[in-house]
Amino acid sequence: MVVSSMHSIGALDCTVRVLGTGGTIAGTAHAGAPENAYKAGQVAVEDLLKPLLPGLRGRIGQVQALQVAQVDSRNMEHAVWQRLAAELQAGLDDPTVLGQVVTHGTDTLEETAVFLQGVLRGSKPVVLTAAMRPATSAQADGPRNLLQALHLAVDPAAQGVWLAFGRQAWPAIQVRKVHPFALEAFCGGDGPPAAQWVCAGEQDGTPVGGNSGAWRWSESDLRAQAARPLAAEPVSLPADVERWPRVEIVHSHAGADGRLLQLILTDPTVQGVVISATGNGSVHDRLQDTLRAALSQGRLKCHQILVASRCTRGWVVGEPDHGWPVASRLTPAQARVALMLQLAAVA
Ligand code: SIN
Repeated sequence: MVVSSMHSIGALDCTVRVLGTGGTIAGTAHAGAPENAYKAGQVAVEDLLKPLLPGLRGRIGQVQALQVAQVDSRNMEHAVWQRLAAELQAGLDDPTVLGQVVTHGTDTLEETAVFLQGVLRGSKPVVLTAAMRPATSAQADGPRNLLQALHLAVDPAAQGVWLAFGRQAWPAIQVRKVHPFALEAFCGGDGPPAAQWVCAGEQDGTPVGGNSGAWRWSESDLRAQAARPLAAEPVSLPADVERWPRVEIVHSHAGADGRLLQLILTDPTVQGVVISATGNGSVHDRLQDTLRAALSQGRLKCHQILVASRCTRGWVVGEPDHGWPVASRLTPAQARVALMLQLAAVA
């Protein structure tokens, strides 16, 4: 069940919805506990929001808080994605809603981003945000990330699905988590952020007071990319999440012999395979042999294979000579979601 509450801030006739899913941003730690000893997904999204409401006066009329889930995002489930997408779509279809924010764990945020970009219809802002420190930390980064996400959600320049995190904003499908504990935990592949949060009273790049500020957009075409859906048409998935196409990921690595892939392909419920490839989309010869055998035996078709580079930064350029489809800019985890959606679209 989705718990919801409405907060009126001022006379403005516009609503922003904030959908909580859990994560470190809603995490709590015992006093004196080591930095990494906390439990994610404990604080209600409404309580994360309340202290920020006075700072939104004059920008937003009402804020609606919805608790969609309360999970550590390592345990993100397709059923939660389904609920989240349904709530976000309701907000996208509601003319009184200007934009929406999703609080999320950092660990699988890049996957949720691809999912939302692929299934939502409409172009109003949907801004994901997160934190690296729990809500109880004296130096919590969540409140400022959430505030900045709220500002992005009412920025008419932001269309589609975004990440606002650490004073930077990217089209969300471009982001990947690249650090397990640094505050700058995300990067946008190789690209710069599309917008930077500039604090009021900033001097030489250092904020000198309060949380007030504004998003400053870069000159790049990143804004246009955010508004472009992953699929040509938003994908409709079966109501029963058990019927969503099952896609597994296999790594290409030193000594890969194809046996894991063979084993996976003995499972008739597996409909697609992502190869987490080396470098510029290259795949170990023995894995290639296994894939070719699966194709010639009719176990797989070409469109059920997707290759993504396991490199942390950058993207695959050109076409690797194995000839299989490549998700050039997606991480293997994101490619799994993209292939799932592609397979659902052709089912
Ligand atoms: C999570 O992904 O829910 C835990 C880690 C985090 O949010 O940083």
